Amino acid sequence: MQQGRTSPPSSSPTAQCPPTTDCLPLNGLGAAASGSEASRQLQKQEVNSHRLLTELSRMSSMLTFYLFYLLSLILGLACVGCVCVWNSRWRGGFDWDGSALEFNWHPVLMVTGLVVLYGYGAVLYRIPLTWGQNKLPWKLLHAALMLLSLILAIVGLCAVFDFHNTHKTSNMYSLHSWIGITAVALFAMQWVLGLAGFLLPCSPLTLRKLLKPVHVWLGCSILLLTVAACISGINEKLFFVLKANSSGAQPYNNLPPEAVLANTLGALIVAFGLVVLNILLNSNWQRPDSRPENMTYTPLLQEENE
Ligand code: HEM
Repeated sequence: MQQGRTSPPSSSPTAQCPPTTDCLPLNGLGAAASGSEASRQLQKQEVNSHRLLTELSRMSSMLTFYLFYLLSLILGLACVGCVCVWNSRWRGGFDWDGSALEFNWHPVLMVTGLVVLYGYGAVLYRIPLTWGQNKLPWKLLHAALMLLSLILAIVGLCAVFDFHNTHKTSNMYSLHSWIGITAVALFAMQWVLGLAGFLLPCSPLTLRKLLKPVHVWLGCSILLLTVAACISGINEKLFFVLKANSSGAQPYNNLPPEAVLANTLGALIVAFGLVVLNILLNSNWQRPDSRPENMTYTPLLQEENE
């Protein structure tokens, strides 16, 4: 391109252009030079405006990310607030004595651990502020949040199994319990595989590359399953406890205040799940992968940390 613009004029000017001064060989050279300068300027302007547009779209993408991230934080806190108020104000509070008060730990720990903490942990890598930094501390924080989430979920399951066993109620009969136990089992498996694949120094790079898309897909699936478990659990609990009785309690279909709060909790959980999924599935918000294709495995503490 550059060559074309600066190439000398044809040896027979009269054959190709009218006899104006511009067509004289030397003047032609000058015109070509100033033309090439102008086109260089134009090119520069184009590059600058392209850079500006790219920067603007990057900034608007970041801004949208932070709006969604803030929304996820607020929705998560609202879920925890709602489930705590529901069980302390309407369900009598908490204890660990095999009674209904022990059961109350179940929804609180499941929502706090398996939904909210899990969701917060899942979107951690998407925060652009962390991108320029070493990945290892974020990896450890991700693993720690997920472990805490898993521990809360296991204690929450102990609460409901202990409650059922104390009252000689059969276990694992409902669709809710099937979906719930599947979510927890997959989550436990995901955590162990994640630890082995991404944190242990002996795991080869090829394994990490194979594991990464599976890890992301399974992570999203577990979130969907936990949201489904919560919705079915809330519904089940409301059908169990909100029945008309002689003391004047209102049934579920009268939509008493407790049902409004619990339904709201369900809606908040769905909204939280959707916002977190939207963050996880948006490719613009994925941490840029700086590792070269053929980079060989380096031990955990030295690696750039994929
Ligand atoms: C991710 C969240 C949840 C998971 C993984 C989960 C899991 C389970 C499991 C495995 C059981 C069976 C226990 C047994 O058979 O002894 C159970 C029971 C129960 N859960 Fe959940 N749960 C979750 C959230 C909730 C929530 C938010 C509520 C709302 C109150 C709830 C209400 C119940 C009720 C009423 C039972 C007893 C009836 C039944 O076995 O279906 N669960 N849950």
